Amino acid sequence: MTGKALVEAEGLQKFFPLTRSVTDLVRHLPRRAIHAVDGVSLTVRARETVGLIGESGSGKTTLGWLISRLHEPTGGSLRFDGEDVLALRGNELRRWRRNVQVVFQDPVGSLDPRLKVWQIVGEPLRAQGELGKGEIRAHVKDLLPTVGLPPDCLDQFPHEFSGGGRQRLSLARALSVDPRLVVLDEPTSALDVAVQAQILNRLVELQKEREVAYLLITHNVAAVRYVADRVAVMYLGQAVEVGGVREVLEHPIHPYTKALLAAVPVADARRRRTRFKIGGDVPSLVNPAPGCRFAPRCPFVIDRCRVEDPLLREIPGAPGQLVACHRAEEVREIAPVSLLTTVDDRSTGAAASA
Ligand SMILES: Nc1ncnc2c1ncn2[C@@H]1O[C@H](COP(=O)(O)OP(=O)(O)O)[C@@H](O)[C@H]1O
Ligand SMILES: [Mg+2]
Repeated sequence: MTGKALVEAEGLQKFFPLTRSVTDLVRHLPRRAIHAVDGVSLTVRARETVGLIGESGSGKTTLGWLISRLHEPTGGSLRFDGEDVLALRGNELRRWRRNVQVVFQDPVGSLDPRLKVWQIVGEPLRAQGELGKGEIRAHVKDLLPTVGLPPDCLDQFPHEFSGGGRQRLSLARALSVDPRLVVLDEPTSALDVAVQAQILNRLVELQKEREVAYLLITHNVAAVRYVADRVAVMYLGQAVEVGGVREVLEHPIHPYTKALLAAVPVADARRRRTRFKIGGDVPSLVNPAPGCRFAPRCPFVIDRCRVEDPLLREIPGAPGQLVACHRAEEVREIAPVSLLTTVDDRSTGAAASA
């Protein structure tokens, strides 16, 4: 079903420098930066969906922006269809942009309220600079029904649409230039459950029709299970586990993946009031210490974890599943619950480690 490598990111980094305080200057302290994405390698193949999951602040949006070349990376390489995307400048870069489009996290803030539907949806087409107004309007009119919107809403404004409708506009805008990859940043998290399902179904259908690949950023594991072929798990700016959706979601190997998946609220009525929380302190993203980012919270930590960065590597017996953990072979069979502090809403504070 899926094809050859479309996006090949290697060691991508994005650091956001912090302004130096007077104290920093006086003490000659080194420049500090938020390591939002710190050495992520990820492949997205043609026509596949890769889910990107991880807690808020783990760098998912920043990685999506790097892959779309909306951020200039601090380091690393990025190839698209074998081409070095980071070498593109000016007109070459502008033309390349049609290949990768983004549906942004916030369906309200990402649509200019002063623009009409045809201008919003047609914006990437206008930016390509090949079509005139009449052609753009005609193209948008054809496109609207494919995302489930009426073709006669060309001259309406975004505020006239529901949340779901606005997200359909964003989707139409992304698809307007026939991209090869769409980065979907939490595309349904602002929508109610019924609308979420409609949009996800439409995304799946559109992928088949248009042979487009998706990078689906979400904290909705159920959505990833439903639509993604592969999944990457991020923790504090790094990919800790990457692999097939079934393999990773059903047999997570990295201690963090196990904990993250166990922390997803359970639907089971008897267990509904029990949630799981990962214990320990989250280290800072500002000039992080060397070693595994999960080490301060990991129950399996050994000295090596605190000094040596674990690299993503294939684990024997788990083909295609890449895990960044020095102790992956030893911890893979350990059940996730043993990592966790159980928090029962009825008796908060009654923590127990199984
Ligand atoms: N433009 C920016 N300037 C400074 N810090 C940023 C910027 N964008 C993101 N960050 C920081 O980078 C980290 C990762 O953010 P983000 O990629 O938005 O994570 P996620 O999408 O997983 O929630 C966060 O600590 C965030 O505050
Ligand atoms: Mg985000």
